[in-house]
Amino acid sequence: MNKLALLTIAIATTHTAQADVEFLHWWTSQGEQKALTVLKQQLNENQITLSPSPVLGGGGDSAMTVLQARAIAGNPPSFAQIEGPSIKAWDAIGILHDVDSVAKKHQWDEILYPLTIQINKSDNGYVALPLTLHRLNWLWVNHSLLQQLNQPVPTTWHEMFSVMELAKSSGINPLAVGEQPWQIAQLFENLVIATGGVEFYSRAMVDLKSDSINSDTLRQALKQLRRLSLLTDNQLDDDKWDTATTALANNQALFQLGGDWILGELMAKGISVPSQIGCYPTPESDGVFLYNMDSLIFMASKSFNAQQASTTANLLADKQFQAQFNLVKGSIPVRMDIDINHYNPCQIQSYQDFKQALDKKKAVPSMIDSMAVNPVAQQAINSEIFRFYRNKQLTEETVIKRIIAIAESN
Ligand code: GAL
Repeated sequence: MNKLALLTIAIATTHTAQADVEFLHWWTSQGEQKALTVLKQQLNENQITLSPSPVLGGGGDSAMTVLQARAIAGNPPSFAQIEGPSIKAWDAIGILHDVDSVAKKHQWDEILYPLTIQINKSDNGYVALPLTLHRLNWLWVNHSLLQQLNQPVPTTWHEMFSVMELAKSSGINPLAVGEQPWQIAQLFENLVIATGGVEFYSRAMVDLKSDSINSDTLRQALKQLRRLSLLTDNQLDDDKWDTATTALANNQALFQLGGDWILGELMAKGISVPSQIGCYPTPESDGVFLYNMDSLIFMASKSFNAQQASTTANLLADKQFQAQFNLVKGSIPVRMDIDINHYNPCQIQSYQDFKQALDKKKAVPSMIDSMAVNPVAQQAINSEIFRFYRNKQLTEETVIKRIIAIAESN
């Protein structure tokens, strides 16, 4: 047989050794893509080719809609990014490969935080692979613009509003935020914590208790959201969260409020954090750790069997990979046995604040970012908050009535 024929067979053989796995996700920003490259490399180094299926839309609402459509059509991806209670909802449908054998091999019961276990383990054992722990109650500060205004970093919303008003009157965009429901609702979530404290936040936004929703405290939080809406006049090119981060990084905005995926974005841009852009707890949320967690579910189909799922999950459960992925993503590890001393100072602070919040029972799930209620109620409430922010005619009463109606139908 001539050399060309042998070479062709060799290439063909090599190629079939590389199984393709399709991953549905919403990591489309520069920083998220950099983290995704770590995941891609981990699989490639083990003869698995990743076929990413990105769905635009930070926060994942669109991605979850696409995932449902694909599952109903009997054409699910091999694995998908997912968060919170949706994991057990998908498990209940019975189309997930469990990852219990991987959990046992990696001793997840011993090395994962209890809240990580609670989110990813159902009565059927581990049904999702936990990957990141993000903190949402972060205020990102452009230090040079704050210095220009000769102001200290705000620790109360009273100080926050006054420095934002000063920025606006000085021609500086006070707050970079994309006008999307989940981003605006994220502002509101922080105002609820600041106004009523973490127990009130849990009753009103996690448990959706009507008497907490129909309260002067929530009205006060809505009043402050209205005040924010009158202050932010974004001239961003589009409404994506990472476009807001670009404005913050380019000295076109004083603040951005949001999860530490923003840190991943800033690091990917080569911004020096925390010296150029600083990270601080959002005003009046000190001691609180408002979190979300990215997990992966592995979906049964003709093209992705239990063995393939187990092989893929085993690689993504690897400690070194998890350590490197979180380092780049801006999050902290979901497992207790990873040394993060070489991580960014903001991640080290996040880790320390998380441990303290656990001790003081002040670690709470983000409702607006899929960690507390079912996606229908979450998206409906986010939309009502967004309407109130956009429509200055809408009253607090109207919004409160609508949120209660959603809560009671939940
Ligand atoms: C969150 C997700 C993060 C980050 C963010 C912005 O829901 O957990 O990983 O990507 O959306 O898209």
